Amino acid sequence: MASVQEDVPCDFPTFDEDRDGFSPGVFPPGFLWGAATSAFQIEGAWTEDGKGPSIKDSWFNQERRALDGTTAEVTCDSYHRYREDVRILSELGVSHYRFSISWSRVFPDGTRDSLNPEGVRYYNNLIDELRARGIVPFVTLYHWDLPQALMDKHRGWLNETLVELFNDYARFCFSEFGDRVKHWATFNEPWSEIVMGSKGILAETVGKEGKRGVYAAVRTVLKAHATAWHTYDKEFREKQRGKVGLALSCTWGEPKDPRNADDVTAAERFFDFNVGWFAHPLFVNGDYPDVMKEYVMKRSMADGLATSCLPEFSSEEKALLKGSADFLGVNYYTARLVSARAEGDDSKPADMLGEDDADVHVEMNPDWPVAGLPFISIVPWGLRKALNCVRDRYQVPLIFVTENGLHEHHDGEVQYDLKDARRSCYHAAHINELRKAITLDGVNVRGYTVWCLMDNFEWVFGHTQTMGLYHVDFKDPEKKRLPKESAGFYRDVIKHNGFPDGAAHTRLVQEWWEARAKRTTGSKEK
Ligand code: NOJ
Repeated sequence: MASVQEDVPCDFPTFDEDRDGFSPGVFPPGFLWGAATSAFQIEGAWTEDGKGPSIKDSWFNQERRALDGTTAEVTCDSYHRYREDVRILSELGVSHYRFSISWSRVFPDGTRDSLNPEGVRYYNNLIDELRARGIVPFVTLYHWDLPQALMDKHRGWLNETLVELFNDYARFCFSEFGDRVKHWATFNEPWSEIVMGSKGILAETVGKEGKRGVYAAVRTVLKAHATAWHTYDKEFREKQRGKVGLALSCTWGEPKDPRNADDVTAAERFFDFNVGWFAHPLFVNGDYPDVMKEYVMKRSMADGLATSCLPEFSSEEKALLKGSADFLGVNYYTARLVSARAEGDDSKPADMLGEDDADVHVEMNPDWPVAGLPFISIVPWGLRKALNCVRDRYQVPLIFVTENGLHEHHDGEVQYDLKDARRSCYHAAHINELRKAITLDGVNVRGYTVWCLMDNFEWVFGHTQTMGLYHVDFKDPEKKRLPKESAGFYRDVIKHNGFPDGAAHTRLVQEWWEARAKRTTGSKEK
């Protein structure tokens, strides 16, 4: 069994027993434990068997590469090795596997006219293989890989035509796979795709349209999600009895000074601009949070524009959006300190999480440990706060944690060390906070999903960010998947449905926690 040693470099210098303490215990019966991936990041075979190119293929495989010079042309080669993926999932003992369907593998030019039977066969095989091993498929329809043809012809999400095109793709997937798939996430992290795309970090999504383009593209995505949800509701739900939601990136915003009312409202605004932008229309009232409308208008006026950059919804559109999600998928990685911007402070936001329009100052806390990416602070208690917040502020009735995982830098030249105790600690800490959210705060979270099943192509960072429970040696033509220590740790958590008293892995975590608490107290006393 994996060990969580006391001396691993995974300390939390701001350790506070009341907030961070370990609370052993199990999860509610039927809780889902899973692992996730996405098509572009693992499949490879980007030109095979009739697949059409996506905007990510063009960006990373043709026009440029990731920062480490690699591409996603082969990556984990899951298109050919999906049986191996299912084998390791079964070894882990997960109850579900979250993967995504590549739209342009199924519809190479984005429309039904181009239907590619080979692509459909691939996903049917994967789903059947999972079910044969008793693993529930949890399918994302869109994980940032828009068919290139739709970008060329329609300018992607800037064009409302995509609402119907996405709906038709979704309808096809519901009808083809829905007899076996009961969990659907329409979109994965649209904030990341569109905001990061607009800043040139991922494939361009809004061209030269800037801020107005970002708001317009998100509006199309929201309508596409809602339209697909209604299609499921009307045409498939009765027979298939599944659920349709979406996954959002839920970076927590902690007020820099919690006693300062302006910092508290700034932090609320930060969350509304990142998460509420999507969750508020879908779960609350069919419209953006009021504060968002107010602040975008204010900024647009200050910029000398005649109208707000945030386009309004008509009453029909509001009716379409309101109530159109059965669950929210929470992807949680990090937190930020947020404060009110001082009067006349025209400095650019500290990082892209602090969008200008929210008028907040966003920074990292140097006391929080960082992951393998310098802008990812590790803040487990932020998960608990984010879960409470989406339940309370956006009235989300049902949540799955659809991603949570540790970025770790590895340059690929040195032998990879499979002893990744830091990852086990990371998951132990987050699962602990999740359990508190469920048992102490009563948040209805029904599943936890590790990102990632295996090392893969981490977008602009290529193969240098390893986040998997399994290591993949990308130089090995066989792309062998090797379990890291954290895979053993997670297997134990799943086997015991959490941290029951007396279980060996629980004792290890407990000891590690106590040592950590002692160390922190010791250093405070000095
Ligand atoms: C969120 C994205 O959904 C996923 O594609 C990415 O690899 C992880 N975050 C880790 O950065």
